[in-house]
Amino acid sequence: MGRSFCSILLFLIFNLFFFSAYSIKVGTDLRPGFYSSSCPEAESIIRNVMRRAMAREPRSGASVMRLQFHDCFVNGCDASLLLDDTPTMLGEKLALSNINSLRSFEVIDEVKEALEYACPGVVSCADILIMAARDAVALSGGPTWDVKLGRKDSLTASQEDSNRIMPSPRSNASFLVGLFAGYNLSVTDLVALSGSHSIGDGRCFSVVFRLYNQSGSGKPDPNMDPVYRKKLDRLCPAGGDGNVTVGLDATPRFFDNQYFRDLVKERGFLNSDQSLYSGDPRTREVVERFSRDEEAFLEAFVEGMVKMGDIVSDKEGEIRRNCRVANTAVLGR
Ligand code: HEM
Repeated sequence: MGRSFCSILLFLIFNLFFFSAYSIKVGTDLRPGFYSSSCPEAESIIRNVMRRAMAREPRSGASVMRLQFHDCFVNGCDASLLLDDTPTMLGEKLALSNINSLRSFEVIDEVKEALEYACPGVVSCADILIMAARDAVALSGGPTWDVKLGRKDSLTASQEDSNRIMPSPRSNASFLVGLFAGYNLSVTDLVALSGSHSIGDGRCFSVVFRLYNQSGSGKPDPNMDPVYRKKLDRLCPAGGDGNVTVGLDATPRFFDNQYFRDLVKERGFLNSDQSLYSGDPRTREVVERFSRDEEAFLEAFVEGMVKMGDIVSDKEGEIRRNCRVANTAVLGR
């Protein structure tokens, strides 16, 4: 009773907070095939650039896929994340969760350049992020799906909003359930989307507190397999280089359910990952199911990505010519 009342209260507070303060709504005008007559080659151009980028650097798939999350949660999927800072605007790239961490922006630049050559002024950077994320998953051996398109690019970005919204690696499952509920994303969506950590790496910076001083205890997180902890101790010694990277699961270049099989063995890398199994019965049940049933995970993941892509801003937008700069800023120079 206490827990469900709290959940409902949290849900209402988050809805009030996000949907009123940030003018976020669920996209209704988006549709598959939006560019089928205006830029029929768009999807194949993006797939080819992604294929080349991942051949050059396999991790870039994960890095590009992560951009969708960091874009969509901050004022909707509007490519605000991609804007560089200007003298009058502090953008999102240097926000707490992004600085020294988000990467592969140059892959999106490469996609945009190819699209501007083929069909100038047609495909938004916001839609590029959605298609590139889908392709990154497919090219890592994961599922593919139809994406809804027709988003506009924002005219501005907000470092402050990103700082306020994006979750830290220290977050626990209960907090994340509330955060995701604010976007109409269920417990299953949260766990499935966290399964994106099936690919990619994290920095020692994001885990050292768990290894040496969990919750200020001066001790490691008890919810960590001792063998896995020894491995992390070796890779991420106290006072060592925070930029050393470690796979987020045991198969960091393959999109599969290994992440969940790791979590049930207490081999999750981030506190926010392990907490989904160890910290809350609502998320634990879903982690267990996905660890046993890969198909169920893949299906829920696709559903979650589509739902996350439906978070759109209702602010004015444009089709940027360069994903890093608003068109008005270019004209104003
Ligand atoms: C549920 C809350 C989440 C938290 C707290 C979180 C946090 C993090 C952190 C701390 C890292 C490592 C960053 C670093 O050490 O530099 C990371 C990496 C990553 N995240 Fe998340 N994340 C969450 C959800 C998601 C979602 C929903 C997606 C995509 C759908 C995603 C995709 C990724 C990917 C692919 C990487 C690896 C990127 C790379 O190798 O460059 N994450 N995340």
